[in-house]
Amino acid sequence: MQLTAPLDMHLHLRDGEMLDNIAKSSAQTFSGAIIMPNLVPPVSTKEEVIAYKNRILNAIGDEQFTPYMTLFFKPTYDKAFLESIRDEITAIKLYPAGITTNSEGGVSGFDVEELRPTLEAMSELDIPLCIHGETNGFVMDREAEFVSIYERLATAFPKLKIIMEHITTKESVAALDKYENLYATITLHHLLITLDDVAGGMLKPHLFCKPIAKRPEDKVALLKVALEAHPKVMFGSDSAPHPREAKEACGCAAGVFTAPIALQVLAELFENENAPLENLQAFVSGNAQHIYGVKPLPKTVVLEKKPFTVPSSYNGVVPMYADEEIAYSIKEIIYG
Ligand code: NCD
Ligand code: ZN
Repeated sequence: MQLTAPLDMHLHLRDGEMLDNIAKSSAQTFSGAIIMPNLVPPVSTKEEVIAYKNRILNAIGDEQFTPYMTLFFKPTYDKAFLESIRDEITAIKLYPAGITTNSEGGVSGFDVEELRPTLEAMSELDIPLCIHGETNGFVMDREAEFVSIYERLATAFPKLKIIMEHITTKESVAALDKYENLYATITLHHLLITLDDVAGGMLKPHLFCKPIAKRPEDKVALLKVALEAHPKVMFGSDSAPHPREAKEACGCAAGVFTAPIALQVLAELFENENAPLENLQAFVSGNAQHIYGVKPLPKTVVLEKKPFTVPSSYNGVVPMYADEEIAYSIKEIIYG
């Protein structure tokens, strides 16, 4: 099985030692990825974007991989600033304040008029807006409650491309077809698990993430649009590494580390669900190319049906399916 130019449209590469330790997990198999800006402090100036991109390029060495950079949304960005940074970024990521890892500097309240200057400028400059769509309500309801905010923004800024990041509910899936300018990323783990897998038996800290995995009917809705490669959905792993100590702790950090196994497990999932390979190709690359207008580096990943035992850790980070066997292995990467 071959996948051409796979793209991960939502990835946390971190910084410093963690960046150096995990960047290659993505850079070896993906042609490129949208890099999330939730560092401490968040990536919010042109200098920071350029410096972070250079640290990423340094960490990946001679792998062929494009980091598509993002900026941490602030309602104070004006058009002149956005024009000056336009060529350095692929999107801007908006976090509600305090909703997830390193999002304290995000947006509180979603007053359209307050956000208008920045969002109008983004719309005019054709800069997509990626949103972590959760309210601060009850944890299982946060994303469904946020759908009305997505709808408000989609209506107020009809030319702005809005990407509902890591959707986990049937309500978000339904919103996709109602608004022309709404798109979505879907993770690997939300196609595979529900809250039962996280907390139904022994608590599984390595499956704990934001947004929390939801109900079986939500997973069914996500699977449907992923397997049919609905043209408005893209693969975005939300691979979010934390050191083992931060996950196996009484205050467990949110994030699932899937980068090293994502393509292999997607291949297994699409096969088990009898979805055609061309749909997987569209889900992991083609749709994102259309939506974002990106032209990824040529890279072909050859997968073979050969069991692979997932390592118990990658440099101190525990991946999804650690110590378990998955059905596909990476056989070869062909460049050019
Ligand atoms: C992400 C992280 O650790 O940066 N965590 C997560 O649970 N997904 C942040 C995010 O995307 O919410
Ligand atoms: Zn994320």
